[in-house]
Amino acid sequence: MFVTKFNVVKRLEHKHRLFSSMKPSLYNKLWLNRAPVSINAGQPLHENRPNLLKHGELTPGITAMEYFDRRSKLMSNLPVKSCAIVVGAQLKYASGPVFYKFQQNNDLFYLSGWNEPDSVLVLEKPTSNIDDVVFHMIVPPTDPATEQWDGFRTGPVGACEIFNADSATDVSDSTSYLSKIIKRNETVYFDVPVIEDESSDSVGFTNFFLPSSQPTGTKTIMDILKNYVRKGGVKELKPILAQLRSIKSPAEIRLIRRAGQISGRAFNQAYAKRFRNERTLNAFLEYKFISGGCEKPAYVPVIGAGANALCIHYTRNDDVMYDDEMVLVDAAGSIGGYCADISRTWPVNGKFTEPQRDLYEAVLAVQRRCVDLCFANKGYSLHQIHQKSMEFMKQELANIGLPSLRQSDITRLYPHYIGHNLGLDVHDVPEISRYQPLKEGQVITIEPGLYVPDSSEYPEYFRNIGIRIEDNIAIDLDSYRNLSVEAAKEIVDIESIVQNGVSTQPNEDVVSPLEVDYLE
Ligand code: GLY
Ligand code: MN
Ligand code: MN
Repeated sequence: MFVTKFNVVKRLEHKHRLFSSMKPSLYNKLWLNRAPVSINAGQPLHENRPNLLKHGELTPGITAMEYFDRRSKLMSNLPVKSCAIVVGAQLKYASGPVFYKFQQNNDLFYLSGWNEPDSVLVLEKPTSNIDDVVFHMIVPPTDPATEQWDGFRTGPVGACEIFNADSATDVSDSTSYLSKIIKRNETVYFDVPVIEDESSDSVGFTNFFLPSSQPTGTKTIMDILKNYVRKGGVKELKPILAQLRSIKSPAEIRLIRRAGQISGRAFNQAYAKRFRNERTLNAFLEYKFISGGCEKPAYVPVIGAGANALCIHYTRNDDVMYDDEMVLVDAAGSIGGYCADISRTWPVNGKFTEPQRDLYEAVLAVQRRCVDLCFANKGYSLHQIHQKSMEFMKQELANIGLPSLRQSDITRLYPHYIGHNLGLDVHDVPEISRYQPLKEGQVITIEPGLYVPDSSEYPEYFRNIGIRIEDNIAIDLDSYRNLSVEAAKEIVDIESIVQNGVSTQPNEDVVSPLEVDYLE
């Protein structure tokens, strides 16, 4: 039917007459299918987004009990009469009132699941009894006028009732609230923020503790800390938290696995689509991550065809892709804050040439050999696996006719590290030493790469090819789990998917993400 404004108005009038002439009971029935919104908060909850969170979960995949256990574990590492202060992130602005998507400080998120800006978490240990630990939150107040513009807030009451804080206040009370806590503790665990503007040590908190609307006399945490001399002093919290965050719980591993599975399947679908443009390939992958159940892309993807792949952080992703090139893609989604991190490289036309095949098989062999070292009981550190990867790369390149490579040649062709921890941050817990043996429960990436420059030092047929293969590996005692296994990486599978739409592996078919249960 031809829709005009007149028609629309007429139909609305008709609907209005229809409803007003109905008995109230009939009118109500029309809305029965719509669940009433029971609680509004600054982030999704089971009560208002049951499709995203199960009963008992505070954030997708993580229960309130797990957040409680994390806080208890942290505080069992700290002395009596100490407190830990974690300042959350603020909204960042591109220009004027134009803001970027909010990203919480992941230390605060890890301890509480709280995902609103301008908030502070404080844990206090008054006695040696872990049950006496007090969980405080300082958060933006509920305020209908602000919420009309910026969305719902959870507020101090919600911080207690939903997020299980023992005590909470709003940010306008921050100076006196924090002063009292800091004054009564002997040791304060607090990570002094990196000074971006050397003219002031209040940087990092300026907007938060000194907004123009706040009463004069409001102080920054740094000011308050200077006012009191403590027996135990001010100590770094990050290294202690990093140790906890580096060992993933079963629930955390399930979330990374889920992000890896959804993202891996999106790669298979991308092979089958034979994209010809980096930009559309980028858009397709991000759409598939989210339609498959991820919340958002885990990081800015790299989609580099041909020589673009030689740039490790190529993110323009705006070039055309030619049949005789390979495309290197480093992209994945995240769920419940937990990231996957996957790289694959394939020929644009779906058929490996001889030189592409040789280089690809070399990188794949290095990757497989490194993944095989990822058992806790084998005792390797990430650094030792990196050293091994250089050695393996040298051997594999010798096998394809690049025999006389010195160490400096290897680092030119393979200039980055073998991997990193993975979790809430893509490069998770960088405080954890690369030299310590891998532990059960760590999740790391294994991502060797090879980038052959356009230089006469290398055979012409190898030049301008960049290859990276990256998987997400959960370390077990006598085994490992590949959390991104769905993304096909064998040549036979990739070629089969491009040609036929399915891989040779029965379990790695190009499955529609919609066929997969959310967080099974
Ligand atoms: N995607 C970033 C990395 O692989 O380290
Ligand atoms: Mn990556
Ligand atoms: Mn990575």
